[in-house]
Amino acid sequence: MSDPEPIRRIGLENVIVADTELSHIDGEKPELLYRGIDARELAEKSSYEETAYLLWNGELPTREELDGFREELTERRAVSRGVSEVVEHAPDDAVPMDVLRTAVSTSSVYDDVGETPRENAVSVLAKAPTALAAFGRAREGDETLEPRDDLDTAANFLYMLNGEEPDDRHAEILDTALLLHADHGLNASTFTGRVIASTESDIISAVTGAIGALKGPLHGGANQDVMEMLLAIDESDEDVSGYLDEMLGRGERVPGFGHRVYKEFDPRAEVLKEIAREVSETTDGPDWFGMLEEVEAYLREEKRIHEKGISPNVDLYSGTVYYSLGVPIDFFVPMFAVGRSAGWTAQVLEQYDDNRLVRPRAEYVGRNGVEYTPIDERE
Ligand code: ACO
Repeated sequence: MSDPEPIRRIGLENVIVADTELSHIDGEKPELLYRGIDARELAEKSSYEETAYLLWNGELPTREELDGFREELTERRAVSRGVSEVVEHAPDDAVPMDVLRTAVSTSSVYDDVGETPRENAVSVLAKAPTALAAFGRAREGDETLEPRDDLDTAANFLYMLNGEEPDDRHAEILDTALLLHADHGLNASTFTGRVIASTESDIISAVTGAIGALKGPLHGGANQDVMEMLLAIDESDEDVSGYLDEMLGRGERVPGFGHRVYKEFDPRAEVLKEIAREVSETTDGPDWFGMLEEVEAYLREEKRIHEKGISPNVDLYSGTVYYSLGVPIDFFVPMFAVGRSAGWTAQVLEQYDDNRLVRPRAEYVGRNGVEYTPIDERE
């Protein structure tokens, strides 16, 4: 029997390569479901840790199960001396995503990350924010802080980064932002993680690879671009429309708008918009939310919204929210990674449950029959 005819799909768009019960994105409605529950409902009623449990286990935890899960996270939150030395000795100008990727990778060398895939997953979820916050303080010359047993992931991160316990609402806001980034189908970083897991490699390796994929500007990064755009407008003499006239005139895209799947609106942006509004009203400084409204109004006026199918995406609002919580701009993509760790680990666990090695093919378009030329005869 001859080999089946290969199908050519550069970029793998619309190719189904896995079954998943984790997250469902419906671009038409539009909605995002985690294990069948609307992410907007979870954002309102649940927490990041409870959502991670849901993604891993398929059901919401009972109170007892959630307490047990929180205890597991608490036990693994601290990083070992080996990891903290790597993080604290990183150059001040190191790229935070590189530091996070290295810290996660290094954890399997120095830390007790457990034996089972699930223990590895708990380790990633618990330690990644600790390592990131430690880098944030070390590069400012501040002493790094141990995680506290009485705080959850979001509150602990803000405490370890800013050096003071956050107020409840700020911790809750970060928690919601992490929850809204927890999973999003088979995007590039999640696919990377699943490919690594499909070789029966470990979760730490899979998440390390996923962080590397998220670092690329075609994947993460627009939230940072939005904040940099707002700061540039604030510092320039131009108003929003003058700035955008020039930006679009140069053929650039406005960060925070457009999505490959959501054409009407991004349900995550719907939730974060209200939070961005609240944060803007309760924080001193420039009215970032007002500026975002002006950017949106400009694009509406330009008939780009709806007619071109571009509407605000999650990155439009997450940046100003993180900024107002004291998270440095170059930590915005790492924050995305911290949130997405729940989904990456859940997807890897799902891959292990029904694994088949991911091994596509490439069409060879190179030369054939080329003879070897000895080095002295080469021109
Ligand atoms: N600003 C201005 N115009 C835009 C934008 C934008 N942000 N996005 C799309 N358009 C225009 C395109 O120029 C195109 O116009 P044309 O028909 O005249 O050529 C039209 O809208 C359709 O654009 P596509 O490229 O077909 O849209 P696609 O679905 O391929 O792109 C993407 C989606 C990559 C997200 C794009 O909208 C973009 O680059 N946005 C800015 C970056 C950004 O915010 N990324 C974060 C996405 S959310 C996330 O990853 C978490």
